[in-house]
Amino acid sequence: MKIVVAYSGGLDTSIIIKYLKEKYNAEVIAFTANLGQKIKVNELEKKAIKTGAKKFYFEDLRGKFVQDYILPSLKASALYQDKYPMATSLSRPLIAERMVKIAKKEKADAVAHGCTGKGNDQVRFELSFKYLAPELKIIAPLREWEFKSREEEIEYAKKNKIPISVSKEKPYSIDENLWGISIECGKLENPWEEPPEDAYQITISPEKAPDKPTYIEIEFEKGIPVGINGKKLKPIKIIDYLNKIGGDNGIGRIDMVEDRLVGIKSREIYEAPAATILHTAHSELEKLIFSKELWEFKKIVSIKFSQLVYYGLWFSNFRECLSAFVEETQKYVSGKVKVKLYKGNCEAVGRKSPYSLYEENLATYTKKDIFNHKASEGFIEIFGLTTLLEGKRKWKIKKKK
Ligand code: ARG
Repeated sequence: MKIVVAYSGGLDTSIIIKYLKEKYNAEVIAFTANLGQKIKVNELEKKAIKTGAKKFYFEDLRGKFVQDYILPSLKASALYQDKYPMATSLSRPLIAERMVKIAKKEKADAVAHGCTGKGNDQVRFELSFKYLAPELKIIAPLREWEFKSREEEIEYAKKNKIPISVSKEKPYSIDENLWGISIECGKLENPWEEPPEDAYQITISPEKAPDKPTYIEIEFEKGIPVGINGKKLKPIKIIDYLNKIGGDNGIGRIDMVEDRLVGIKSREIYEAPAATILHTAHSELEKLIFSKELWEFKKIVSIKFSQLVYYGLWFSNFRECLSAFVEETQKYVSGKVKVKLYKGNCEAVGRKSPYSLYEENLATYTKKDIFNHKASEGFIEIFGLTTLLEGKRKWKIKKKK
């Protein structure tokens, strides 16, 4: 048996290699994708092989991740339950896609992942596998094996000389890529407890951020960020830059209780400086450009889109349909937004676009005003007709009583 396993080098996936070899008598191929997380490829490869993998595949998927997953979700204003930019959720279908490719090349029989049986990621991986390669067997060791806690796994790893970086003092489970970091476990499991400073990886605390604000101008073309402070840059460079400058200003810390697909409420924290800044700026630009109707309707689409991504339904016709709608909405989303970063707060303080529907001569209270005030009389008469009739009815009923 040949198995391709999604390998991060973390606690679970390290143990998995050994487990798969022993339980399935399998040849294990480890796959790691570079999605912008901190990794030392050479060390990872050594570790995978040392732990028992026959082969190690590594692919830099940052470009594809940005192009095919991050940008479409930015355009869709996709924030799960109004807060989470879904760095983790978005990465799973891409990793799955590559694993399937490798599995086909290697003529493997199965794919495996290191997700627990109570999270969302198992669903995301497995629905992607089903969609892309229904013939592959799917193995989820964490749903099979006998370890009952992370503590037990740590013990096992130590006993078997599997190198791990988790310790009892720093017990967080962390998933990182360029769109953000997801952190759970440890003290975070108590939703009343403020996240300890050591849980945060890439942001400094707002208290420690500079006392002076930082201003950034972000340029968009058709919903895509294309420049910073007047300089054209590739989206990936923009994301890198904003993660750094945002993190230095304490931007992008998200502390939330969220509803998992399996019905559990979980408390997790996220750090997503670039995602926070880009979503803020992008939404602000849409506000200037969209009609009221489009703005309101797209909000509904955003909620639905986020749910689909979060629930692992990236590969679905419904998601494609929503993406097609979103794409069309971005036709005029070009322009610039001025963002102010200050002690953990990120606010749009200026916006302009050649396609703006904002008309200063209509909005102004000065003598430049060109709005036809008289026309409002007729407008209110007609707009208020139903209100008038309903009011009359109410009074009639009251009098009768
Ligand atoms: N709750 C987030 C999601 O479902 C993140 C899950 C992964 N988190 C982690 N620390 N491994 O997308």
